[in-house]
Amino acid sequence: MTPGARGLLAAMSKFNTLKIESIHAREILDSRGFPTVEVEMTLSGGQIPNAKGVALVPSGASTGEGEALELRDGDKSRYQGKGVLKAVANVNATIAPALKGKTFDSLEKLDEALLAMDGTPSKAKLGANAILGVSMAYVRAASVATATPTFRLLAGIYGSEGMTLPVPMMNILNGGKHADNGLAIQEFMIVPRGFAKFSEALRCGSEIFHTLKKILHDRGLSTGVGDEGGFAPAVPGANPHEQVLKLIMEAIAGAGYQAGKQVFLALDCAASEFVAKGSPKDAPKYAFEGTDRTASEMNAIYADWVGKYPIVSIEDGLAEHDWTGWADLTAKLGSKIQLVGDDLFVTNISFLKQGIDKKIANSILIKVNQIGTVTETLRAMKMAKDAKYTQVSSHRSGETEDTFIADLAVGTDCGQIKTGSLSRTDRIAKYNQLLRIEEMLGSSARYAGKA
Ligand code: PGA
Ligand code: ZN
Repeated sequence: MTPGARGLLAAMSKFNTLKIESIHAREILDSRGFPTVEVEMTLSGGQIPNAKGVALVPSGASTGEGEALELRDGDKSRYQGKGVLKAVANVNATIAPALKGKTFDSLEKLDEALLAMDGTPSKAKLGANAILGVSMAYVRAASVATATPTFRLLAGIYGSEGMTLPVPMMNILNGGKHADNGLAIQEFMIVPRGFAKFSEALRCGSEIFHTLKKILHDRGLSTGVGDEGGFAPAVPGANPHEQVLKLIMEAIAGAGYQAGKQVFLALDCAASEFVAKGSPKDAPKYAFEGTDRTASEMNAIYADWVGKYPIVSIEDGLAEHDWTGWADLTAKLGSKIQLVGDDLFVTNISFLKQGIDKKIANSILIKVNQIGTVTETLRAMKMAKDAKYTQVSSHRSGETEDTFIADLAVGTDCGQIKTGSLSRTDRIAKYNQLLRIEEMLGSSARYAGKA
């Protein structure tokens, strides 16, 4: 029996003995200093008595319209309206009393109970931040109760082996909504693929990051960082985006690595954020480098860059409602590179299904809080996998010390993770968790980007 099958049997037989003793939520702060939800759950009946699991909920800035609702108080006298006391109260006063003393056969059953309690398609009643906190805390507590590492428990639930360390897509230069440097494109990432182990890929990323810092400093450019820990310089000139690609190529070579062999490039354009004002939703223009451009003009720019630089992945190259532009982008580049739908799919199987049916994009970004339960997250990953769409387990720009997405990436063997740059503990926490998992797996660990 494979370790995945063993994990599955073990996970299925263990859940129904676990009784929810307590659930407690509190308001905490995320990496931007804005409030978010933390949930603690205690389970009895497991191998470890009174097993406590904790989950911290992330929060985006360049959010997709179709995301599940993140409930904020709107009370301007606290945190400029961004407080989450309503979501916290929904956990403590509604969810906790309803679930206390209950047992569930599976994570799916617990999540279904949460969905039934909310009863809205976008989780607007209780808030996706309340629901996700409880869903993730259950996984964490079940992991403690059954003395099973979270990635193994998730592998059991998902039906995978849970032995693949993901290729990190490291956002070393930030723009868009995550910085104030005037760059339209939100994320310039390096992708270390030609390595034997995850830890070696991580070292490569760190060395390139620090080489880039020196290059920026020597050019008189800022080395301050943006929301995801990447540098955020204002790059002068008429074509700043291509200048950034050149700076990163220089940093790769300067750190002693071969671009196009060991290290590749990826972009998250987050193009919904630079749609030209007043342009139609379904056929927008894009305000890019001083000119309003059509989707096909943007696609020509991307195709030009793909020809000149070792770009292997472009996320949200066009806006979320621009399905015609996306079809053109997929026809042009879909057979050459990974085209990731983030705002386009919002980790939601109904949007993903439309994409698969229309042959739009070939990959999905997976963000647990876009959909709001772990079960629905796993369903989106499964649907993508079955359709041969690749998957990327992803952080949000507003993060915490929670490392759930690292366990999710290994547990599902999805092969890729996007969790920011090589600075700031909110980003590094996930890389450090992957280092721990790699060590735990020992010789059975596989690196998805193996040379
Ligand atoms: P967000 O950014 O969390 O601000 O949405 C991350 C991304 O777009 O991938
Ligand atoms: Zn994105």
